[in-house]
Amino acid sequence: MTGDQQQQAQQFARDFQAFMEWTQEVSERRNPPVIDQLHEHLGGTDHSVISREWSPVEHVNLQRALDVWRRQDGREVTVVGLSSPRHFSSFGLGELLSGDGLPPLRTGSPDVIDLASGPGQTLACWKRALLLVRDPCGTYALLVNGPQPHEEPDVRIEVAGVDTGAAQALLSDIDRLRSELNVFRGQSIVVESNRMGGLSLSFVQLPPVAREDVILPEEVLGRVDRHALGITAHAQTLRDAGQHLKRGLLLFGPPGTGKTHTVRYLIGRRPDATRLLLQGEALHSVSAVAGLARELAPSVVVLEDVDLVAEDREYGQHNPVLFALLEAMDGSAADSDLLFVLTTNRAEVLERALVQRPGRVDVAVEIARPDGPARARLLELYGADVLAGLPEDDRARVVDRTDGVTASFLKELIRRAVLAAAEEGRADRVSAHDIHTALDDLLDQSQSVTRSLLGLGDHEADDTDDEDGAPVEGPTPGVAPGASYGWFAYAPHARRRYRD
Ligand SMILES: Nc1ncnc2c1ncn2[C@@H]1O[C@H](COP(=O)(O)OP(=O)(O)OP(=O)(O)O)[C@@H](O)[C@H]1O
Ligand SMILES: [Mg+2]
Repeated sequence: MTGDQQQQAQQFARDFQAFMEWTQEVSERRNPPVIDQLHEHLGGTDHSVISREWSPVEHVNLQRALDVWRRQDGREVTVVGLSSPRHFSSFGLGELLSGDGLPPLRTGSPDVIDLASGPGQTLACWKRALLLVRDPCGTYALLVNGPQPHEEPDVRIEVAGVDTGAAQALLSDIDRLRSELNVFRGQSIVVESNRMGGLSLSFVQLPPVAREDVILPEEVLGRVDRHALGITAHAQTLRDAGQHLKRGLLLFGPPGTGKTHTVRYLIGRRPDATRLLLQGEALHSVSAVAGLARELAPSVVVLEDVDLVAEDREYGQHNPVLFALLEAMDGSAADSDLLFVLTTNRAEVLERALVQRPGRVDVAVEIARPDGPARARLLELYGADVLAGLPEDDRARVVDRTDGVTASFLKELIRRAVLAAAEEGRADRVSAHDIHTALDDLLDQSQSVTRSLLGLGDHEADDTDDEDGAPVEGPTPGVAPGASYGWFAYAPHARRRYRD
């Protein structure tokens, strides 16, 4: 080796040593005191980590569970919040134990996210917290990681410092508390799909709808009542007789006839149940929702406008969503009180699937357009005060002229008549002229879009197919005449065709 080369080698050795010292210094500088605290607590670094994950909707329930668990008798818990700058990758208890691959960490009180825990209530939930625990099980640590946007969508709890069996037992303990203290139990919950493809649950308070405010033929509402509510009333007798309580009810009929209105009435009658309300994209997540419904039973799961997604396919699934939905209904525990209510205005879209998977939807009820007496009751319900001065003859004429319209059409008619009266300075007294003018206007062919929005269809209201305005007997579109469909046997009205 020449003198030059020797010098270069010595320089390289010095640089390399400086580099090693620098990395050591950096790593020491980045190891925050919490790591020593953890090592000291556990008495070493060589511990296996046992973890369990939950869906993000359980974050609030896990916080409730942990708040109770950490205060139980005989348990001493120190909570250390860990936060790192944004965009640093997340880490687990394994990295904390080894000190490798950690982002810069700040310790203190845990950062929290405020999550809904009831109607108008929130609970501060830890984003990330290290729990140093001492209890009769031993001396161990828990790391609670809330969902990390774009990285770890789930909530994860990791345990180190006790053997695997003990760690599993304590995770099960926390899970049992999570289920017992579940904030969604017995509430009305709107289920939506979030941008990340997961579920989001929000509490709603729906004003209850009284039975007398649901204007439907008594036999129709009676059948809805018996199937939806009667089974719950006799739950124990049915269970004792080995009968299942799980049931599916399909409400079908044209837009604006009161399917959603009936659902609201039903869920108001079940304040004891967890009521999960889904429509649109959220219907794709029906399997996960059925799991929630089972855990939170008694439950009512409302699946609105199922025809809109019936034929879509779930990501990575060959089966249409409707099949997934029916499978989810079938997978439910037979003895838990579960009611699935489906609504649609295109029963024929569902029919093939329902025929192929019998037993899921066991009653189908047609919510048809109101007949004459029902229209008179609707005028009374929505116009009682403002129509008080309307002569009987005019009232009867309005009922006649509105043959074939829906309940929501009548509501709109009254609103327009009140508006016309208000423009003349007498909003509390609608005249015959106001109401007939509003009706002429609504029935005007040129308003076909408005008419179909109100569920009238494109025909003239008084252009009925028969005299009393009853729906015309005939095959439901898409149903082969004379074919025998198991679930249709329960729905004598199902073979009537809608009038538009
Ligand atoms: N049978 C009814 N009795 C009393 N009010 C009704 C009835 N049907 C509809 N209404 C009134 O009309 C409004 C709209 O009806 P609703 O949303 O229940 O219709 P729908 O059948 O669910 O229609 P869509 O198929 O478009 O969802 C209701 O909020 C209610 O005020
Ligand atoms: Mg509806």
